Amino acid sequence: MGPEKIVNVLQGKKIILGVCGGIAAYKAADLCRLLVKEGARVHVIMTRSGREFITPLTLSTLSGNPVLTDTFDSEDRNPLVHIEVAEGADLLLIAPATANIIGKLAAGIADDLLTTTALAVTCPALVAPAMNVNMYAKAVVQENLALLQKRGWGIIEPEEGILACGAEGKGRLASLSAIMASVRRTLSVQDFAGRRILVTAGGTREPLDPVRFLSNRSSGKMGYALARAAWERGARVILVSAAPGLEPPWGVEIYQVETAAEMAERVLELFPYVDVVIKAAAVADFRPAQPVPEKIKKGGREFLTVTLEPTVDILAELGKRKEKQILVGFAAETDRALEHGAQKMKAKNVDLMVVNDVTREGAGFGTDTNQVTLLYPDGRREELPLLPKLEVAHQILDAIKALPALAE
Ligand code: PMT
Repeated sequence: MGPEKIVNVLQGKKIILGVCGGIAAYKAADLCRLLVKEGARVHVIMTRSGREFITPLTLSTLSGNPVLTDTFDSEDRNPLVHIEVAEGADLLLIAPATANIIGKLAAGIADDLLTTTALAVTCPALVAPAMNVNMYAKAVVQENLALLQKRGWGIIEPEEGILACGAEGKGRLASLSAIMASVRRTLSVQDFAGRRILVTAGGTREPLDPVRFLSNRSSGKMGYALARAAWERGARVILVSAAPGLEPPWGVEIYQVETAAEMAERVLELFPYVDVVIKAAAVADFRPAQPVPEKIKKGGREFLTVTLEPTVDILAELGKRKEKQILVGFAAETDRALEHGAQKMKAKNVDLMVVNDVTREGAGFGTDTNQVTLLYPDGRREELPLLPKLEVAHQILDAIKALPALAE
């Protein structure tokens, strides 16, 4: 049996995508495609100037729905179209949003289809501004954005960089991954709002000499999925990562580390400030006792003996220090997984152990799926099916949420 289909928060959601006039309007096409790909029903409204930059045909083709334009521009001149489109909407997303639309929204002006719809919706709303750096920095624009935020709008801040006008600074439309992450977070149940969660990910590298290291097969995917899921569910997430090659999930605070010692230092430093620690990283248990400062030469040797010494067991140390924090450990096992997982749970004083039999097909290191069993200190166990890592992450978060210590 293959992995079950991931439960996607955008699946079946009605999203109104407002596209305004700015050079970034062309990016709305890709955004529309990504929203549709994640299962959303997208209804695009274009302003008159938006249509100067990208054609409605592009967006109607990508969304699979007719593009709506100004009330009296449409052939059937339906004066109730803004009410009809607003009906049942789950999200209004305006990307790119110009200084003009931001000003109109802040002032309550409703003189075209997008602004009348913005007043008619009852769902959450997001704006992703994009404009010239000086326009974005203008007090009136900043005050209008602050006003919108005060009234409950979500603002997806623009990025810094070289703008279409040649100027450099803040004003470029947020990246599509940032916009998609904000959309998912807005549509997700915020059951971890106000919680601080520290996640570790990846495999540590223990240097042997300046060019070689001892490591393991962890890609970091499991930890990154946990960080993404926790952020989308409202948590403030700190990711301590020993996975250099992965793009960090949007919104998380990331600390890149290499060795077990660096990970220990960072995690122990942050521990007093977090509510939950999830240790998905594969931390080396041993490291070369004396890393050599120069590259080790072959030099006619038949054997090379390396002496290893134990690293700090970070999870066990957290288990000793913990006060109110919830500790979630992972146990990567190749034999008698549940028995060994239960021993580690007890020895390291954790509140939830995720047992990962890495010999199972589709589970463990490097894969996009995983199959784990959750063990609780009271002896309960819950075996999950083979699932995409993001779905496993959500199930682990569900289990954490149900722990009595977090429910308090
Ligand atoms: O990164 P991926 O490719 O997605 O793969 C995911 C994974 C297989 C790495 C992950 O699902 C997993 O099982 N992580 C735990 C790996 C591991 O180190 O297991 P362990 O049984 O050796 O350690 C038990 C626990 O103690 C772990 O939570 C580990 O982070 C922690 N530990 C171990 C040693 C040490 N020195 N310090 C620790 O904190």
